[in-house]
Amino acid sequence: MRIILIGAPGAGKGTQANFLTNKFKIPQVSTGDMLRSAVKDKTDLGIKAKGYMDDGGLVPDNLIIDLVKLRVEMKDCENGFLLDGFPRTIPQAEAMKDAQIFIDFVLEIQVKDEVIINRLTGRRIHSESGRIYHIEHNPPITEGIDDISGDPLIIRDDDKKETILKRLNTYHEHTEPLVNFYSKWSANSDQNSPNFISIDGDDSSEKINEILNKILK
Ligand code: AP5
Repeated sequence: MRIILIGAPGAGKGTQANFLTNKFKIPQVSTGDMLRSAVKDKTDLGIKAKGYMDDGGLVPDNLIIDLVKLRVEMKDCENGFLLDGFPRTIPQAEAMKDAQIFIDFVLEIQVKDEVIINRLTGRRIHSESGRIYHIEHNPPITEGIDDISGDPLIIRDDDKKETILKRLNTYHEHTEPLVNFYSKWSANSDQNSPNFISIDGDDSSEKINEILNKILK
């Protein structure tokens, strides 16, 4: 099972990725998590990527493409993987196609910009495990504390309102064209074309998960 999740920042890709990777026993390949970990460790990649991320832009394609190609060749991806946050530009999608890394399902989660702002300003995360909370929609048992480890939760550096607005613009300009790219390819139904399915993400996480489970059955 090879899955791509496409959606604006805050559409719920990470939340659904958690459900789906547990269900299908496949790894979640999140370029955002990979980059944040590189920034934290101050690696070459992290030092180059930080400015773009803080500014709500995209890290250049040449820094990302090889990283993902190498990641999906690893042993734990043998039976499939879920790509969360990649591809994010047409050149990234073309690079996957050229490398003959084909996908079974491309799932777009559509959420309106107004809803996104509420979701991201209320997001809290446990950085070690990647567990995602929301102060209203999915609060931890104790405010500000991870349910499992008891560690304090953090707010992501790029979840400030002005950066969220820039990330949304970046999404509409560079990532949304992928919807057309994959829906057209899917309609071609050549041997390697993915199934492209778009769903309305403005519902509870559990409801969205139910819909995705039905699609992937
Ligand atoms: P990345 O980490 O990928 O961030 P993103 O795409 O902006 O997505 P998010 O993680 O913010 O949101 P999400 O859709 O996962 O939502 P979540 O489930 O957390 O990328 C970060 C940066 O890295 C980029 O800006 C870019 O600079 C760089 N980058 C990464 N990949 C790149 C690439 N391929 N090329 C170039 N640059 C790249 O949910 C959000 C909140 O809403 C949570 O609080 C959650 O609890 C809540 N929530 C979720 N679902 C629901 C629901 N159904 N109802 C109510 N609340 C919900």
